Amino acid sequence: MHTIAVCSFKGGTAKTSTALHVGAALALFHKKRVLLIDFDAQANLTTGLGFDPDENDSMAAVLQEKKTFHEVVKKTGVPKLDLVPADTWLERVEVTGALASDRYSHERLHEIIKDLDYDFIIIDTPPSLCWLTESALIAAQHTLICATPEFYSVKGLDRLSQFIESINQRHPLNILGVLLSFWNARGKSNQSFLEVIERAFPKKIFKTKVRRDITVSEASIFGKPLFETAPSSRAGEDFLAVTKEILKRL
Ligand SMILES: Nc1ncnc2c1ncn2[C@@H]1O[C@H](COP(=O)(O)OP(=O)(O)O)[C@@H](O)[C@H]1O
Ligand SMILES: [Mg+2]
Repeated sequence: MHTIAVCSFKGGTAKTSTALHVGAALALFHKKRVLLIDFDAQANLTTGLGFDPDENDSMAAVLQEKKTFHEVVKKTGVPKLDLVPADTWLERVEVTGALASDRYSHERLHEIIKDLDYDFIIIDTPPSLCWLTESALIAAQHTLICATPEFYSVKGLDRLSQFIESINQRHPLNILGVLLSFWNARGKSNQSFLEVIERAFPKKIFKTKVRRDITVSEASIFGKPLFETAPSSRAGEDFLAVTKEILKRL
């Protein structure tokens, strides 16, 4: 089993879209059994797969020992793809109930998922280096970092790199790669963006870049991966290519 936490230090870097489409590609085209965990109270992965976050329990209930994992996991419309939805309880879950007094609360997600029976577990994280993101990185063996070709995004990469290193000192954590989305092949500053990322994460940038493509946001309106709503889209092509790169690196 491979556990991957998808992270970055800010919103809008396509973390959720990447978690959803890499997960769906592994299930649909590589016949892997995949679990997606929505670990962001904004619940975009949950709605992106057609679930209502107000009507489902999240990992918060499992972390608080109110529910078991098997009570909160959902089958999605994609065969072999399961989801643990998110809800607003995830936000500040660490200062509530049983977690508030647990010095080792960061380890709980790891304890919950470590013996599950999947080929892949992919955890979507919030846009900050908070308790949820730290727990996800501790629970994972690998992290996939999302970035966009913008200067303000790239500036925080050093902070993220230090954060990952601090976790790596407690739990082995492999940086699987850095994925650039919203890519414009003709962008004038592409080379300088890539150089800054290369400096923070040497040899980690995926060859595949996910091109800017409206079909990504359109698919989320339908609550389905774009392999179903726009099968020949260029973003679909890019997500398939990066999934192959991921499989090669593992
Ligand atoms: N390659 C892309 N092209 C166009 N829009 C995209 C692309 N990837 C993601 N989006 C859209 O951009 C927004 C932010 O993406 P999202 O995956 O939610 O990022 P994050 O989880 O990092 O905040 C969403 O509306 C999503 O549908
Ligand atoms: Mg998100």
